[in-house]
Amino acid sequence: MEFEVVRSLRALHSAIARHRHGPLNSAASLAIVPTMGAIHEAHEQLIVEAKKHADIVMASIFVNPKQFAKNEDLNKYPKSEEQDIQKLKDRGCDIVFIPEINLMYPDDFDLTIDVPNLSSVLCGKSRPHHFQGVATVVAKLLLQSNADYAIFGEKDFQQLLIIKTLVKSLNISCKIVEIGTVRNKEGLAISSRNAYLSEKNRKIANEINII
Ligand code: PAF
Repeated sequence: MEFEVVRSLRALHSAIARHRHGPLNSAASLAIVPTMGAIHEAHEQLIVEAKKHADIVMASIFVNPKQFAKNEDLNKYPKSEEQDIQKLKDRGCDIVFIPEINLMYPDDFDLTIDVPNLSSVLCGKSRPHHFQGVATVVAKLLLQSNADYAIFGEKDFQQLLIIKTLVKSLNISCKIVEIGTVRNKEGLAISSRNAYLSEKNRKIANEINII
């Protein structure tokens, strides 16, 4: 089947239907790998894992404004759409969903999903709305795609627990699959935000990782 990049819900649903009814059959399973782009080796490992579980693999690229506080890096978050699409395609992704902002959050959007106990501790203390933003967008992506599997990394362990709770509480029929933290050869967890590290800070970060 042809690799497809889709930007609307209608296009996403027809791409999924084409793949489900393609050379496979309507029982073909779908896995989603939600991302904010700036695709790197750790995302690629999520795609590799997705392919072990499902017949069809889609990734989403959406820099979700609701998970950034006003003083955070939304405007400078690394963007590399063309390269991202190529990397996802090369790893065997079938569909890349790049929703427009007003598809995710139209002007009259008025919903926040909260997993209050897990969201208010640890990182949630210093980023009070972050996990609400994550839970809200992940719920939307899982429902929009109706994926059978969703793959996340253990690097964001608190996020992973919140997503598992969200899926269980809303009875979303999607199995959450986790993969271990992907690290560089020095042991630093691979993250899009490593691009912000100066050479000096990268050396320090390499030394303080826990393996
Ligand atoms: O882990 C991330 O990249 C994001 O928090 C996610 C899960 C794609 C939601 O925007």
